[in-house]
Amino acid sequence: MLSWDDYNEDDSTRDVKNAAAAKTIDEPQAAVEIQVEVPVAPAAPAAVIPEPQVQASVAAPAPDVPPATPPAQPMLEQPKAEQPAVAPTIPEAAVAEQAPMAPVVPPALPSAHIEPETTERVTVDQKAMINCRADLNQLVPFKYDWAWQKYLDGCANHWMPQEVNMTADIALWKSDSGLSDDERIIIKRNLGFFSTADSLVANNLVLAIYRLITNPECRQYLLRQAFEEAIHTHAYQYCIESLGMDEGEIFNMYHEIPCVAKKASWALQYTREINDPTFNTGTVETDKALLKNLIAYYCVLEGIFFYCGFTQILSMGRRNKMTGTSEQFQYILRDESMHVNFGIDVINQIKLENPHLWDSEMQALARHMILEGTDLEIAYARDTMPRGVLGMNANIMEEYLQFIANRRLAQIGLGEQYAGVKNPFPWMSEIMDLKKEKNFFETRVTDYQTGGALSWD
Ligand SMILES: [Fe+2]
Ligand SMILES: [Fe+2]
Repeated sequence: MLSWDDYNEDDSTRDVKNAAAAKTIDEPQAAVEIQVEVPVAPAAPAAVIPEPQVQASVAAPAPDVPPATPPAQPMLEQPKAEQPAVAPTIPEAAVAEQAPMAPVVPPALPSAHIEPETTERVTVDQKAMINCRADLNQLVPFKYDWAWQKYLDGCANHWMPQEVNMTADIALWKSDSGLSDDERIIIKRNLGFFSTADSLVANNLVLAIYRLITNPECRQYLLRQAFEEAIHTHAYQYCIESLGMDEGEIFNMYHEIPCVAKKASWALQYTREINDPTFNTGTVETDKALLKNLIAYYCVLEGIFFYCGFTQILSMGRRNKMTGTSEQFQYILRDESMHVNFGIDVINQIKLENPHLWDSEMQALARHMILEGTDLEIAYARDTMPRGVLGMNANIMEEYLQFIANRRLAQIGLGEQYAGVKNPFPWMSEIMDLKKEKNFFETRVTDYQTGGALSWD
């Protein structure tokens, strides 16, 4: 079901006729009145997103990197009408001295969309990917059937980490002779990167993207994706615990290991840009900020940053080493390829409905982001593979990552960057192809107990 063949232009063009009917809403969303009984806690961070201590030092300049602003302050310049009237006049130090702090109540939660503006029945042509005013509590009628289908496909491929047998991995990891030092580095670095990367993705989904995507069938998939990210983090934790690794060492690699920290830091800048509760779409600038976030996470973090590690671990499994860990990664890769496909469909749909956002400046920025991410991933490959290992080396991985980057560029309508590169790992495509995959339900350690959980007894 999922293969490289799925990465075609069909996804980006299937809703052209729907997009033609979509409305572009330029003015900010009217405020939704929300009755809040509990006073707003102004000092609480909008989202607790730790910043890696090791800052990214990317060769190319990072676009629009916001400073590490205290979370109570808006990250982006907001429309003047939405600024709290008193906030700019109170010095920061004075605010900090008050106990409790004077509540800085946002004027509204403008894009939460938890209540409709009217009680009208929703029609398809009222629905839009961003800045939609229709009632988001009405899932149907569907406008984006592909989003609902991906939700169904995700649910049909449910799995849990503890269903994978880790016995052979534990014996091999504890053996003195089973793995080379280079292979151990690969295992630890990848568990270090992925164990926190999926939390970054999940936080970005629920704290930044979810409220800004104003379509219920896409939100339905985002909820499914968020759960899958939780399962992925669970899977990495399960591997780390099973192998008896130093959990503090592994989970802090995104602070302490530069090639891991640079990738995490690169992604976090895009979460910080839009996760402030007062941030809203509705202007060209803020709509572009959301688009940048989607490109950063779907095209780069999930679409490029995962691929060196996936390839390394799955190559290990193909050599009959760390087969349990490799199987966990295989299921995660299957989920991730669907996440990337979904995100690219969303990006392309936003472009179709809001062509003014996809100007030459935005296209250049998107290309810059993808190439910057590719460079970071190539650096990660060189750091994790100082020598040839597992039938691959950093140069071969570089070509593979350039091949992946070309696909990402093409998927969002940009020209390829790296001429003549080929896929040196065609077996990766086969692993992502569900039709060729071994039968999951024949290899699972345990069965689901959905029936038993519903007993009236
Ligand atoms: Fe994930
Ligand atoms: Fe994902």
